[in-house]
Amino acid sequence: MEYDIKDKNLRELGKKRIEWADAHMPVLQQIKTRFEKEKPLKDIKIAACLHVTTETANLMRTLVAGGADVRLCASNPLSTQDDVAASLVHDYEIPVFAITGEDNTTYYQHINQVLDLKPHISMDDGADLVSTLHSKRKELLKDIIGGTEETTTGVIRLKSMAAEGMLACPVIAVNDSETKYLFDNRYGTGQSTIDGIIRATNNLIAGKIFVVCGYGWCGRGIAMRARGMGANIIVTEVDYVKAIEAQMDGFRVMKGCEAFKIADIAVTATGDINVIDESHFELMKDSIIIANSGHFDIEINRKALTKLAVEHHEVRPLVEEYTLKNGKRIYLLAAGRLVNLSCADGHPPEVMDMSFANQSLAAEYITQNGKTLDKKVYNLPKELDTKIAQMKLQTLGIEIDKLTPEQEKYLNSWELGT
Ligand code: ADE
Repeated sequence: MEYDIKDKNLRELGKKRIEWADAHMPVLQQIKTRFEKEKPLKDIKIAACLHVTTETANLMRTLVAGGADVRLCASNPLSTQDDVAASLVHDYEIPVFAITGEDNTTYYQHINQVLDLKPHISMDDGADLVSTLHSKRKELLKDIIGGTEETTTGVIRLKSMAAEGMLACPVIAVNDSETKYLFDNRYGTGQSTIDGIIRATNNLIAGKIFVVCGYGWCGRGIAMRARGMGANIIVTEVDYVKAIEAQMDGFRVMKGCEAFKIADIAVTATGDINVIDESHFELMKDSIIIANSGHFDIEINRKALTKLAVEHHEVRPLVEEYTLKNGKRIYLLAAGRLVNLSCADGHPPEVMDMSFANQSLAAEYITQNGKTLDKKVYNLPKELDTKIAQMKLQTLGIEIDKLTPEQEKYLNSWELGT
């Protein structure tokens, strides 16, 4: 079996941690049990480019239980959990091509090794796999039935490919299921981003001025959780409606150039480039901590920061101190890469349970329907999204009411008024 991992001796720890995550992913477990019986992915080859974590390991096990032949590489050079990669290869015989801290060349070499499988389905987090498939490995497109995409950034890239007529297969935007973005993006990112900042710095959150750039689902989660720990939150936005929402949720809203002057901590979660830019660094208060929670490392202009700094060095693992000419220090976490996956373990298994239930059902749906779908970006059908919510509630032991026939009739009628 071909693979490329850091160290096979890490497998024992990896296996224990994969089992721990599994115990907190009951919906995925139920899907795995059904897949074992029905084998809906028999003879299907899946190329996966995802964060190599304990939760992803359980997704891979589920796809294999369904009969799929899978290969996995990392969707970010810093997010791989090397113990998980070792266990996947040596305990579960799943080929993994991922080493934490890999350089750009190795990152793309690993994507290519995963594509060498000649997949029928691509499973992406950020669309690097699909974009490599559509640019450098076009010869493989003839075997592709379709793909799935995990994250907002990837869905945006795919929609722009589709708009330019460049998308050669249907792709399910797993991100856009309600059981994904309402929980993973909000509660997952909310908790894991704070976790990453705390693990990297061991600093107190209470009493800090904490700037959240972007008030999408991820930004909301971060703001909500940082407030819960006693921080004083400021939101920066470019969207008028989201800015009002942030204000009415009780946060201060201001321009970045004002917010950064007083921030103790600033986190980006926008999906866009240079949100913390050259013009901002010299305005910043001494000892500010800056981090990114968006998919790519483009939200903080690190190149400009390096140019402006007279000196920079690492003060703790994944914490770099940049000293500017004015003597002020800026602490950049994880080189501007995803702080929640670089400095912590990513989202907890309880939310990834629903995200990866969506991925599993999307792979099954593409297998059954891919050939009849257009070369477009689709949501997972609403019934499957609802089914995942129903399964999650059931595993939580929560029952809810049903509409009575009278209520159902009322909702479907227009005659009944005042
Ligand atoms: N994205 C965010 N958190 C994750 C996790 N724990 N596993 C895989 N992908 C993730």
